[in-house]
Parts: sequence; structure tokens; C-alpha cells
Amino acid sequence: MISPGQASRLPLFFQELVRRSRWGDRDRPRNYRMPRANPASPPRPAVKDVNNLRITRALLAWFREHRRPLPWRASSDAYRVWISEVMLQQTQVATVIPYYQRFLKAFPTLRHLARAPLERVLQLWSGLGYYRRARQLHEASQIIVARFGGCFPATLEEALQLPGVGGYTAAAVLSIAYGVPLAALDGNVARVVSRLEALPGSLAQPAFRKGIEAKLAALLPKRQSAGSAGDFNQALMELGQTICLPRAPRCPVCPMRKACRGRLSGNPEAFPSPRPRRATEESHLAAALILRPVGVRRNSNPGSESGVPAMLMARGLDDGLMPDLWNFPSAFGASIADARQRLETKLADLTGGPASLNLEVARVRHNVTYRQIDVRVYRASLSSLPRNGFRWLAAADLGRAAVSQLARKIAEASASALN
Ligand code: ADE
Repeated sequence: MISPGQASRLPLFFQELVRRSRWGDRDRPRNYRMPRANPASPPRPAVKDVNNLRITRALLAWFREHRRPLPWRASSDAYRVWISEVMLQQTQVATVIPYYQRFLKAFPTLRHLARAPLERVLQLWSGLGYYRRARQLHEASQIIVARFGGCFPATLEEALQLPGVGGYTAAAVLSIAYGVPLAALDGNVARVVSRLEALPGSLAQPAFRKGIEAKLAALLPKRQSAGSAGDFNQALMELGQTICLPRAPRCPVCPMRKACRGRLSGNPEAFPSPRPRRATEESHLAAALILRPVGVRRNSNPGSESGVPAMLMARGLDDGLMPDLWNFPSAFGASIADARQRLETKLADLTGGPASLNLEVARVRHNVTYRQIDVRVYRASLSSLPRNGFRWLAAADLGRAAVSQLARKIAEASASALN
């Protein structure tokens, strides 16, 4: 038996053969055993004559009529599709749209992106979060120029060599841009298919993932005449975002309702199984507002003039968060007093001399993934300046630098302390 890893290194034609021979056109592979039903989930209702081709046709017809005119759908250029797919990971469509438009205006082609300084890429990403995506996108663009002549590769094997490109992104880009018959499985798609099949579980469970992949393989249009794989993938994503919602799905208007075992069970929301959520954590962060002393030369900061109050910014936040972004010097702590203490030590280490935090000038709340951060901002003075890893930034220049969203919030909340 060929493993998925080996299969992905075969030419596409053989990948397709392997896929067909493993899954066939039936609902489930011969050797696939249904995961044991969760006792809390309803029994799997029978659906008469499940016809995968009919389901796919209904889905594609619905998509032709209801597809939203999203900016990345205006062209099937692989570079544009790739940028949109990376931005859409962990981020909602409405949030992505303005970022996507600004990014493509700044870097209209892959070569523009590859030539740009990372700082500029991060600046345009600022606010989207998960900054690793931006770093990897930039690095991958340079690899594509060096190894693939500036064109996003068209085979799964090559696409998977790029940093930040995993099975989902490769399948989405290759199917949408080049029509390669690969199914793209993300959380939204998993929800739609797990309801269609009344399959309990979560993507973290291999048996569940296999079951979803098997059904997707059976539904994926096999011939161009049955519809394109790119439209099929986008139709499932669209269905997950607009109809098959996590809460209160809109079953009466779903194109797959007749075949949906989840709907027939009477409780579609039971699929997939609820994910155990990581508990949110209250964190304390102390941040230092350090104004440029009179007479200090502006350093590596061409945009700001020496008469304007400028703030000292350091790379990264703390705990390895936001390593490439400019932030107010900050430290986490078990309590606010602990955070304050740690920040004083950090500033002293940075400058090689004593540092003292003075008045609290602002409080800000900010959420990063599971952390709910209570931020206290203190005016601070330093006996000497850090040697490197810092810059002076005037409030007016915040929009033009790779600054974290948190730093923008802190600057806004501290505005009165700047005068
Ligand atoms: N989510 C991920 N990819 C998408 C796409 N192409 N369209 C809409 N939502 C998506």
C-alpha cells in the first residue's frame, strides 16, 4: 500500500490513480472502519441511494448562482490565489478583503513580493495576526523565483516543498489556479462533510480525517465536464461559511439537504464533535513608554523628525511573540507587579544600566489567540540607550512601520502622555 506521503511525490496522473484505487468511487474505502459512535451523538440515519455525482452537481449549481464576488475570485492567477489562501487561514473573509487589496497593490506580482524587504511585507500584514504566515510567504516567493522561474509550481510535490505550504494550501491553489483534481480540507469543509455523513469526531483524530477525505474523494469532480475541482473546493468553503454554519445551520436552503445525514438526524450541530477548547488565560503585560530625550539623534528612522516626540520601540513582544514586529518594550508576568519587575530587569539588561518605571499612563486590553492580556503602560526613563534592536518612532509614523496591533493600541491610549 502506498502511503499518502509517497503518493504525494508521484506525478499527478499516478496520484489520481492511487487515489482512485484506494478510495474508489464509493462512499468509503474498503478498509475504512467507521469510528465508534460517540454515545452522546445521535445514530446515523440512512439515506436512500446516495449518489455522489448528484450531490456534487447540486453543490456546483448552487455555487454558480450564489458565489460571492470576492476579490481573489476575479482571476485564477496562481500568485493571487496563493496570497488569498494564506491570508484566509485562521482569518475571516471580511477581515481579509482590505488586507488582500492593499497587499496586491503593493506587490502586484510574485517577483515584486520576492524583491520587497521583509519589513514592508510585515507592515502590510500588521493586524492580520499569525505573522509567521507573512515571513513564510516572503521566503517562499524567493524560492519560487530561484527554483521555479517565478511561477507558483503546478505539482503537489513541488508546491509542498515551499515553506508554509501544506496539504490544504497546495490543494486549494493547485485546484483553483490550475484545475488539478485535489480536494482542499479545512475546518469549514470538514464541518460540511461530517454533517453530510453524520460522522462524529474532529480533524485531530486520524479515523475522522480519513472518513472525511474518503467522502471528499468520492465527491470531487473526476472529469472537467462534471465541474472544476477549484469550484468544488470553493463551493464547499462557501457552503460552510454561509449555510452550513457552526451554529444554527440554514438547512432548508442547503443544496445538499436531501443527502445530508446530519440534517436527517435532527441535530446537525452534533457534527463534528465539539472541539475541546483551550481555556483562555488572563495574562499581565507591563509596557514601557520611553520618549526620545532632547538632543538624541534620530537613529535608523528616516521618517521621523527630531523635534517630534518619538517613542522607543523594540523588536518582538515577550515570550517569543511577534518576533519581527516593533513593539513597546514589554514583559509578561504572573501578576502586574511581577510583569513590572520583569520589565525593569529586561530594560536594565538591554541598556546595561538601571531603568525605572514611573507613572502608569494607560491601560489596554488585548487578545492574542488564547491570551487575554491586561496591559499597563508606564512612563520610563533609561540611564543609557540600548545598543541595538530598537528604533525611535513618532506617532505619525506608526502607519508606515511593521508595528503590532497591540503597539498601535498602546500608542493611541497613551496619546495624552506624549505631549
Ligand atoms: N476560505 C479559504 N479559501 C477560500 C476561498 N477561496 N474563498 C472563500 N473562502 C475561503
